[in-house]
Amino acid sequence: MDETAYKAAVTRAFDRAAAHYDRMGVEFFTPMGRRLVELAAPAPGNRVLDVGCGRGAALFPAASLVGPEGSVLGIDIAPAMIEEARREAERQGAVNVELRTMDGERPELPPRSLDLVLGSYSVIFLPDAPAALARYAELLRDGGRIAFTSPVFTDDTFPFLPPVFTDLIPRSLLRSLPPEWQPEALQRRFNSWLGRVADLRRTMEKAGFTEVEVVDEPVELVAVSGEAWVDWSHTQGMRLLWTHLPEEESARLSTRLISALDAMRDGDEPLTIDTPVRFVTAVVRR
Ligand SMILES: C[S@@+](CC[C@H](N)C(=O)[O-])C[C@H]1O[C@@H](n2cnc3c(N)ncnc32)[C@H](O)[C@@H]1O
Repeated sequence: MDETAYKAAVTRAFDRAAAHYDRMGVEFFTPMGRRLVELAAPAPGNRVLDVGCGRGAALFPAASLVGPEGSVLGIDIAPAMIEEARREAERQGAVNVELRTMDGERPELPPRSLDLVLGSYSVIFLPDAPAALARYAELLRDGGRIAFTSPVFTDDTFPFLPPVFTDLIPRSLLRSLPPEWQPEALQRRFNSWLGRVADLRRTMEKAGFTEVEVVDEPVELVAVSGEAWVDWSHTQGMRLLWTHLPEEESARLSTRLISALDAMRDGDEPLTIDTPVRFVTAVVRR
């Protein structure tokens, strides 16, 4: 993988998504971030780093728990995400929040200066996540903690989507993706450290963590309609598929998904999809 080109593509994708990210008739990242912070439970006065903070789904709940004596630094590789988060911090008058555009793979911060590192659905985008985890361990004080989320990967669907999409998105369409985003490449990349719980524990321990807890728990994705879900899917991981599908295929898939998802709704009620999420927490002990 050409790391520079890969990171430029990730930055471009999230820069374009930032203005509407999780704000278009679908809620998923916001409840997931809230739940992650609930599990991490930062204490008043804690110094927190949120890696790949996006618009702040985990950052703002953390900022309210650490209070005025604490601080939360949100970093993201996509400047437009940082801009949106900054606007929200100003809107909330959140004086304990700092935001910086920075590559989360190598945060330039003093060693042992943090109580908690958060990463909601972001660590998975790092080309060498295990190496980054070891760097995060160095940034944490003795007793400091990490808490991050990832999809629960399965073998038979687009890796960022829950199993309900297995039959809705034919596997043949995934062949339009560039090589590094083909299902096998993604599975190799993620399964090497995250797919199986035993490997994940080993990775975390090698990175310098202990007391590793892995909890797979569904987060309820709520969309006002099938169309809202499809629009939203252009702003998250599935954007990769949309941007690489030939126009006709894209239109056909869009129509198929909208009608299948609307058929899952109870009349005019919103669509709800239980989406499995992996919550990982661990501690540094020196
Ligand atoms: C799926 S979004 C999650 C955003 C946010 N944590 C949330 O839960 O809403 C992934 C985020 O990770 C960021 N990201 C990807 N690679 C990154 C990197 N190398 N360094 C920092 N941020 C990165 C993206 O720009 C994007 O904002």
